[in-house]
Amino acid sequence: MLNTITAPTTPLFDTPPMFAHPARVTAIKDEAYATATYEIEFEDDDLKQHYAFRAGQFNMVYLPNIGEVPISLSSDPAKTGVMGHTIRYAGNVTRAISRLRVGDTVGIRGPYGTAWPLERIHGNDVCIVTGGIGLAPLRPVIYHIINNRSDYGRVYLLYGARTPIDMLYTEQFEDWEAHGIEIHQTVDRADESWKGHVGVVPMMFYHLRLNPKKTTVLTCGPEIMIHFVIFEALARRIPKEQIYVSMERNMKCGIGLCGHCQFGPTFVCKEGPVFAYAAIEPFFGVEDF
Ligand SMILES: Cc1cc2nc3c(=O)[nH]c(=O)nc-3n(C[C@H](O)[C@H](O)[C@H](O)COP(=O)(O)OP(=O)(O)OC[C@H]3O[C@@H](n4cnc5c(N)ncnc54)[C@H](O)[C@@H]3O)c2cc1C
Ligand code: FES
Repeated sequence: MLNTITAPTTPLFDTPPMFAHPARVTAIKDEAYATATYEIEFEDDDLKQHYAFRAGQFNMVYLPNIGEVPISLSSDPAKTGVMGHTIRYAGNVTRAISRLRVGDTVGIRGPYGTAWPLERIHGNDVCIVTGGIGLAPLRPVIYHIINNRSDYGRVYLLYGARTPIDMLYTEQFEDWEAHGIEIHQTVDRADESWKGHVGVVPMMFYHLRLNPKKTTVLTCGPEIMIHFVIFEALARRIPKEQIYVSMERNMKCGIGLCGHCQFGPTFVCKEGPVFAYAAIEPFFGVEDF
């Protein structure tokens, strides 16, 4: 076991491993350009009641005759009965998802993968750093922190997007700020409406005065962004043991059988997607740099 994060890596219901359970789309909310959040409920009442996930985990979402894709849970882990998936339309399967309407059925199996170490970092300051759709697997972290606010110190969200219309969940920012989440936004390209920062998200570290001894960094986004986030965090003397990353790889089975998601000596679907940076440092980014 390479990763040091422990989390349920097997689904919470007991059926053949590749069985996708019928689930109904109950709401669709446009979030940003070519991106929407789908609320999905299992048709089986027992499953609906007992399904639970932890922040950072993902489901495999299946469309008959089209295919299956891994998608993070983006909803509140404390809310049972409904699963939220924020999906950016990227290719074959996700474009087919964009044609779904309320009442349509999909197949769901999961939850899979490791979770953000939210219990382990009680008492710490938390610095969430992400770009674009990368905020989706971190939104459950924000819900969890808000639900358990006294367990955490200062909480920063450094969020970047290509343009203002690519930003997710902006209508929730006011509420998050009211719960003490300090939000620093930036875009690569501004428009006339934009009053905030312009530039890449790792540069937002320059606007903070972090206490390295008690700050945990949680990051998810394009791999090149993660590299620079780690660089900036280490430059501020945040120990590598206090940095956690969520990695994406193409997946097929989602349960450690096919090898599609290999990352160094590990499979992202089983030992990830959330990794302690200290565990993956030796092979992180070998392909990119
Ligand atoms: C653990 C995990 C969680 C994810 N969570 C989300 C989420 O919450 N919301 C969301 O919109 N997407 C998420 N993704 C990415 C999503 O799974 C892919 O966008 C999707 O599989 C693309 O399938 P497609 O058939 O629509 O596109 P395809 O036709 O398969 O591909 C379209 C393009 O996207 C690229 N691509 C495909 N899969 C990935 C991937 N995993 N990472 C990077 N590039 C990829 C392909 O190389 C191609 O260039 C997640 C992926 C992983 C592994
Ligand atoms: S997706 Fe098959 S091993 Fe990870």
